[in-house]
Amino acid sequence: MIFKKRTHTCGELRASDIGKEVTLMGWVHRRRDLGGLIFIDLRDREGITQVVFNPEKYKEIHEKAGELKNEYVIAVGGQVSPRPDGIVNPKLSTGEIEVLVKDLDILNTCPTPPITVSSEVRPDEITRLKYRYLDLRTGRMQSNIKLRANITKATRDYLAENGFLEIETPILINSTPEGARDYLVPSRLYPGKFYALPQSPQIFKQLLMVSGFDRYYQIARCFRDEDQRADRQPEFTQIDIEMSFVERDDVLDMAEGLMTRIFKDVLNIDIPRPFPRLSHEQAISRYGIDKPDIRYDMKMEDLGEIFKDSAFKAFSETITSGGIIKGIKVEGYGGASRKKLDDLNEKAKEMGAKALFWIVFTEDNIKSSIKKFLRPEDIENLKKKFSVSPNDLVLILADKKEIVHRIFGEFRIFLTEELGLIKYGDFKFLWVIDFPLFTYNKEEDRIDAEHHAFTSPLPEDIEFLDTDPLKVRASSYDLVLNGVELGSGSIRIHRRDIQEKVFKIMGLTMEEADVKFGFLLRALEYGSPPHGGIAPGLDRLVMLMAGEKTIRDVIAFPKTQTAFCPLTGAPVTVSEKQLGELKIKLDV
Ligand code: AMO
Repeated sequence: MIFKKRTHTCGELRASDIGKEVTLMGWVHRRRDLGGLIFIDLRDREGITQVVFNPEKYKEIHEKAGELKNEYVIAVGGQVSPRPDGIVNPKLSTGEIEVLVKDLDILNTCPTPPITVSSEVRPDEITRLKYRYLDLRTGRMQSNIKLRANITKATRDYLAENGFLEIETPILINSTPEGARDYLVPSRLYPGKFYALPQSPQIFKQLLMVSGFDRYYQIARCFRDEDQRADRQPEFTQIDIEMSFVERDDVLDMAEGLMTRIFKDVLNIDIPRPFPRLSHEQAISRYGIDKPDIRYDMKMEDLGEIFKDSAFKAFSETITSGGIIKGIKVEGYGGASRKKLDDLNEKAKEMGAKALFWIVFTEDNIKSSIKKFLRPEDIENLKKKFSVSPNDLVLILADKKEIVHRIFGEFRIFLTEELGLIKYGDFKFLWVIDFPLFTYNKEEDRIDAEHHAFTSPLPEDIEFLDTDPLKVRASSYDLVLNGVELGSGSIRIHRRDIQEKVFKIMGLTMEEADVKFGFLLRALEYGSPPHGGIAPGLDRLVMLMAGEKTIRDVIAFPKTQTAFCPLTGAPVTVSEKQLGELKIKLDV
């Protein structure tokens, strides 16, 4: 071992350092042998520096460098030199210099790695996760994980500056209902009993408000046993926030401040405020879903008035049977081939539509799958309704309301991918507010909370709790970014009588409510202040800011889509002894 300490990182040296004697340590990123010289791209977290072994100047060291292979860990000492004209690399921060190596220490070797760190081509995900420590060395993953750390730092800076206290809440708890299945941890001291891992810190953050810790936050790990998707993991992280003596707009304002600060600090992007707002009802009736992507328009228009006495049976019968007719305009897509339009129809049918009708507006006429049913006034009305220009395409669905909304909701997303409408760097936030407080759960014939059981009804709707609970709107809000539900929150119930009423509507008996939430109900009696909060998902935020398609690419050690960890093998079987201590017998 020649070297004890590095003098610089691999991303640090510039032209102003030329002539300095330096020591660098890092990984062999790439090796090139050219005209007797050996060039190594030496890499660490901060960047890449080219180091050169010259046989004419340092023969022995050059010979030793002959052993170097990808991902060897080395220390080199030498002099910073200008790169010869013509091989300056403007893409690299250290691209003006190279280090002429006089001494080399091989700190560790590496067999041929299953992941080529310098390549942009990624192996399959199982290999990436099994050798995650190698995968994390790639430029893309290094940049994602750094981005995540920067976002967390901006979050802490902003919240601390705004008077929030970071407080940890327990991981071994009884249960927080957020609509998923709990992960359970058996108790050794209380055989037959289990802790649950928190689906979120929801109840504890409310208890902190009762404790007087107004303005709490936590970068909180949450656990949910649910079906995995690109933006769902069994354990994930929330920026969990709660405030006292606030109304909805105070929370929205604070959350907007946090988001704009993160984008400014981390990506130097100015997000305009206030973020637009849509009521839940508006979102559904315009876009078919409660988390619309508003980077593109394609709003649904109601065509019931235009077609109510249409000669086209599919239209008139839909209206008489209580259905709806809606359409969307796809700008500039009128040139699509007949085959393409037929494909769109097929796609809609796959989604459950009876048919998707299309109309292409040309300079002075139309082409359409239903041309013979369209009266001249229909065409004029459609032109007005959609402000069409030549070469626009209008797509129409006629069916039950829920079906039209669901299919157009999915179809808008499908079309943006199909038409390549989305570009990285365009970030559009949206608030969706005034969700219904409850939804009817058909399978279980039960009323469930739409957000969670602790969400306050809108004050003006409290009167309907007794008479028509499904009509009651909630003091809740979702923060949507580019069509992704980034965060949810609400003003909470802070009075025991209303909380009890909500539990009752959800079918909990007083005894059940007492067993599950007695501690919360009791706390509400002891001077609970009005309070509310929100929890943006950190993983989803990082994913969107990084331009990635799955949160697995922004979590250092994620699980697969099937909640498995190829690196450690978790979940694993455990020994009989361990099970015995827990008094657990398996039946699998
Ligand atoms: P909610 O359940 O809507 O609300 O979750 C808030 C946000 O957490 C993120 N999220 C997830 N991210 C990755 N994987 C998952 N499995 C996952 N589940 C949720 C999403 C989501 O918007 N206690 C309430 C918040 C509150 O009322 O303050 C809650 O947890 O980004």
